[in-house]
Amino acid sequence: MAENTHLQELESLRDAAIQELESIPDESGLEAWRVEYLGRSGKLTQVLRGVSTLPADARPVIGAAGNKVKVALEGRLGERQAAIVNARLDSLADDAIDISLPGRSLAVGRLHPSTIILREITEIFRGMGFQVVEGPEVELDRYNFEALNIPKDHPARDMFDTFWIDANKDAEGRFTTLLRTHTSPMQARIMEAHEPPIRVVVPGKVYRYEATDATHESQFYQVEGLAVDKGITFANLKHTLHEFARRMFGSERKMRFRCDYFPFVEPGVDVSIDCFNCDGTDSSCRICRGAGWLEIMGAGMVHPNVLRNVGYDPEVYSGFAFGMGPERIAMLKYGIEDVRLFYGNDMRFLRQF
Ligand code: PHE
Repeated sequence: MAENTHLQELESLRDAAIQELESIPDESGLEAWRVEYLGRSGKLTQVLRGVSTLPADARPVIGAAGNKVKVALEGRLGERQAAIVNARLDSLADDAIDISLPGRSLAVGRLHPSTIILREITEIFRGMGFQVVEGPEVELDRYNFEALNIPKDHPARDMFDTFWIDANKDAEGRFTTLLRTHTSPMQARIMEAHEPPIRVVVPGKVYRYEATDATHESQFYQVEGLAVDKGITFANLKHTLHEFARRMFGSERKMRFRCDYFPFVEPGVDVSIDCFNCDGTDSSCRICRGAGWLEIMGAGMVHPNVLRNVGYDPEVYSGFAFGMGPERIAMLKYGIEDVRLFYGNDMRFLRQF
């Protein structure tokens, strides 16, 4: 008897649940329905729990019937869910928008080749214990020339075709301000502000008043290097630069030092590496054209006068300095033939990096 009542109860529960389900229009309604009937304290769940209180012979019958109802409700719920999702997709497709069209792509920026090379260079020196510092592009004659052992009217000034700034003049009527012609003035600024030991590299823009061609620009980058301490020798310079060349251009690099003149170093050298593109004899090599050597920087031991000018005792301290052109290094590395491309703003060039 009890059996029959329970079976009827289950049936009417099922019918009511399914009827209710058919009229639910959306997914949140479906979820509320699921909780109401199938949830942990839902109506069907309660009936199923009540089975254990029934007489032993009634339990299997009612239990099985209850589970059947549960499966039926779950199945119908799944169908309703699918139907609602499909109806939503259909209504999107009816809209005027073609959702299968690809979106508009955003233009992605990229690094300028000079930036890439500057980061590579500074990263290598950072790895060797150098600090990276920057300095002003508008510079005083005092730092750009005088502190660097290049007095007024010294012929070495002809090495640097200078953009003067006509804002300030000294007592003799000479301009005192300029666009720095090299990053070397930072040597003096750093030594003036700090005590040794010093190990720094200085990336930055420099300016020269000269006609431009494939190998000359009026603005370009330099990276200056400076190390000062007790007992720094030319051997330290050679090792540091050789290590730099190996990391920048490959582990097999040879290096060549030739005497050169810069007023702020003694001795002064220009530094070349052996061609990394050919064996040094290939006249069609786009990098060295058969010369076998590539000049990559000027360098030398800091001149005693420069040390004196910043208040260091040259009997106690010594140092080395170097200055390189990142654009030139990028040209060698990437096979770029014209330095004017760096500031030409031609996207066809810039997109290649
Ligand atoms: N400042 C020099 C130049 O611009 C390069 C250089 C730097 C040379 C440091 C020697 C030492 O040509």
